[in-house]
Amino acid sequence: MLTKRSTRCRSTVLGGLLAMLFAFAPATRAQSLEWGATKYFKYNIENVIVSPTAGVAGSYDVKVIFSVTNPVTSSTWNIKTALPFQSPSASLTLDLGWDPATDVSNTGSENPALAAVVTTALGKGAALPVQARGLQSNGSTGATLCSSELDCPGVISRVDRYRITKSVTPVAFTSVVTRGRVALEGRPVCNGVDPAYVCPASTGTTFVNIPVPSAVANFTLSPASATTALIADPRRAVVDIRKCQVCHDGNMHGDTVVPQLSLHGGNRTGNLSLCVICHNPNQTDVPYRYLTTGTTADPRISGAETPIDFKTMVHSIHAGGFREKPFVVVGFGSSVNDFSHVRFPSTLRNCLNCHVEVNGRGTFELPLAKAVLGTTVNTRSTYLVAPGASRTINVAPADDLKISPTAAVCSSCHDKAEVRLHMTTRGGASFATTQSAIGTRVVERCASCHGPGKDKDVRKVHEIDGSGADG
Ligand code: HEC
Ligand code: HEC
Ligand code: HEC
Ligand code: HEC
Ligand code: HEC
Repeated sequence: MLTKRSTRCRSTVLGGLLAMLFAFAPATRAQSLEWGATKYFKYNIENVIVSPTAGVAGSYDVKVIFSVTNPVTSSTWNIKTALPFQSPSASLTLDLGWDPATDVSNTGSENPALAAVVTTALGKGAALPVQARGLQSNGSTGATLCSSELDCPGVISRVDRYRITKSVTPVAFTSVVTRGRVALEGRPVCNGVDPAYVCPASTGTTFVNIPVPSAVANFTLSPASATTALIADPRRAVVDIRKCQVCHDGNMHGDTVVPQLSLHGGNRTGNLSLCVICHNPNQTDVPYRYLTTGTTADPRISGAETPIDFKTMVHSIHAGGFREKPFVVVGFGSSVNDFSHVRFPSTLRNCLNCHVEVNGRGTFELPLAKAVLGTTVNTRSTYLVAPGASRTINVAPADDLKISPTAAVCSSCHDKAEVRLHMTTRGGASFATTQSAIGTRVVERCASCHGPGKDKDVRKVHEIDGSGADG
C-alpha cells in the first residue's frame, strides 16, 4: 500500500509539472488531457441576443447567455468559484466569427477600418474571431451572473447562468454579412483529481487539463425578436466528425496511436464547427511566425506563411505520404509542426473517409459552392523581425494573395509542380491571385473535366463506388 502510494505520488508530481508546462504551451500536441473527466462538464450556449450598438454604425452588441452543466449529477457549475474553473491555467473563452452562411472571413474583427495591426504581441492573426477570454474571472473581463428575466431572457433557469456582451463590427468581404457564429471553448483544470475524476476542493499539486467538447451556436444580425437571435446552422455540411473519430479515438490505427480531436492545449475539442471559425480561408499561421532569438530564424519560420484554411490544412496533414513537399504549420511558441510523417491509415483517395454525401452527391465533388473563398497564402504581413520588435499584421483580406478555391483543395494533396501547372494551364487556376479576380479574371474550369459524369469525374478518378468508406 505504502509502496503503491509513493509510486503514485512520484508520477503525480511529474504529471503536475508536465501539466503546468503544457498549460503554458497550448499548441503542444503531446499534452496530458484527462478524457475521463469530460463527462462531468457540458458547455451550453443557451441564448444569443443581438442589437445594434448605440451610436456606432455597422456595429452590433452580441449578448451570449451560457452555462456549464454537470451531466453526471444533473447540476450546474459555478464558474466563479468552482475549482476546475479557478485553477491556474483554466480557461473559458467565447469566439465570435462571421459569416457562417457563406464562408467565414471575420473581416473587421481587429478593426473595422482594416488598418494593419502593428504589435509586439504574439497570436494576432489576419482573420481570427473576436474573443472574450477569461469568462470565469471575477475581475472585469469575466462574465456576469444572470440576475433577472430582463437581463437573461429565454433561459429555463437563472441558476449559474452567465451573460457576456461583446461588440462586433463585421465588414463585408465578398458579400454582406448577415449572420454570425459563437463558440464556447476552454478547459477546466483539476487540481488534485481523485480516482473518480471529481475535482476535490482541495489544493493538490496535480494539474490536468480537461478537454471538454466546445459548444457552437449560430445567430442572425437582424433578429425578428428582441429576446433571441439564434438560428439553425446555416453552413453547408462538408465532413462529419463521427467519421474523423473512427480514427481519432486515442487508439492504434495502422502503426500510429491517433489522438482524440482536441487541439490547442485541450481548449478546442470535438467540434469542427468551432475549428472553421479560425481555420477559415483568410487565415494563415502568421500569428506565431517570429524570431525567437538571434537574427536568423529557422527557414521554416522565416519562409512563406502556411494557409490554415480547413479545406487545405486537413487534407495536407493527412497526405503526408502522398505530398512531395512537407506540410509545416508554425504554431504557439514558434513551434514547427511538420506533418510529413503522417501516414493515413486507410485509403487516402477514398474521400468518404471524412466527407458526407448530400442527396447522393459527395461534398468532395465539383464544382464547389459559389461562396467558397480562395485560400490565402500571403497576407502581406511583416513577420520576419528581431525579437521584441513589432510586427505588422495586415488584416485586410482584399490584397491577400490567394490560391483559387478548387486548386487550393486539389493541390493540398496533389502538390507536384507539374500538376499545379496542369491546374493553371488546363484549369485556369491561379496560385497567386486576389479574391476579386477569382470568378472574373481567374475562372476555374476544373468541373468541365472533373465534374460529375465528366471524363475525369472526381468520384471516378478516386475510384469511389458510393458504398461508403472502405476503412
Ligand atoms: C483513417 C484515419 C483518419 C481519419 C478518418 C481522420 N484522421 Fe486525422 N489523423 C490521422 C492520423 C494517423 C494522424 C496523425 C497522428 C499523429 O501522427 O500524431 C492524424 C492527424 C490529424 C490532425 C493533426 C493534429 C493531431 O491531432 O494529431 C488533425 C487536426 C486531424 N487529424 C484532423 C482530422 C479531421 C478533422 C478528420 C475528419 C474530417 C480526420 N482527421 C480524419 C488519421 C485520421
Ligand atoms: C481561436 C482560433 C482557433 C480555433 C478555434 C482553432 N484553431 Fe487551430 N490554429 C489556430 C491558429 C491561428 C493556428 C496557426 C498558428 C498557431 O498555432 O497559432 C492554428 C494551428 C492549428 C494546427 C497546426 C499546429 C498545431 O498546433 O498542430 C492544427 C492541427 C489545428 N490548429 C487544429 C485545430 C482544430 C482541429 C480545431 C478545432 C477543434 C482548431 N484548430 C481550432 C487558431 C485556431
Ligand atoms: C482526412 C479527412 C479528409 C479526407 C480523406 C478528404 N477530405 Fe476533403 N475536406 C476535409 C475537410 C476537413 C474539409 C473542410 C471542411 C469544412 O470546411 O467544413 C474538406 C473540404 C473539401 C472540399 C471543399 C468543400 C466545400 O464545400 O468547401 C473539397 C472539394 C474536398 N474536400 C475534396 C476532397 C477530395 C476530392 C477528397 C478525396 C480524394 C477528400 N476531400 C478527402 C477533410 C477530408
Ligand atoms: C485527400 C487527398 C486528395 C485530394 C484532396 C484530392 N486527391 Fe486526387 N488523388 C488522391 C490520391 C491518393 C489519388 C490516387 C493516386 C495514386 O493511386 O497514385 C488521386 C488520384 C487522382 C486522379 C487520378 C490520377 C492518377 O494519377 O491516377 C485525378 C485525376 C485526381 N486525383 C484529381 C483530383 C482533383 C480534381 C481533386 C480536387 C477536386 C483531387 N484529386 C483532390 C488524393 C487526393
Ligand atoms: C480539359 C480537361 C481538364 C480540365 C479543365 C482540368 N483537368 Fe485536371 N486532369 C485532366 C486529365 C485528362 C487528367 C489526367 C487524369 C489521369 O491521369 O487519369 C487530369 C488530372 C488532374 C489531377 C491529377 C494529376 C495527377 O496525376 O496526380 C489533378 C489534381 C487535377 N487534374 C486537377 C485539376 C484542377 C484543380 C483543375 C481546375 C483548376 C483541372 N484539373 C482542370 C483534365 C482536366
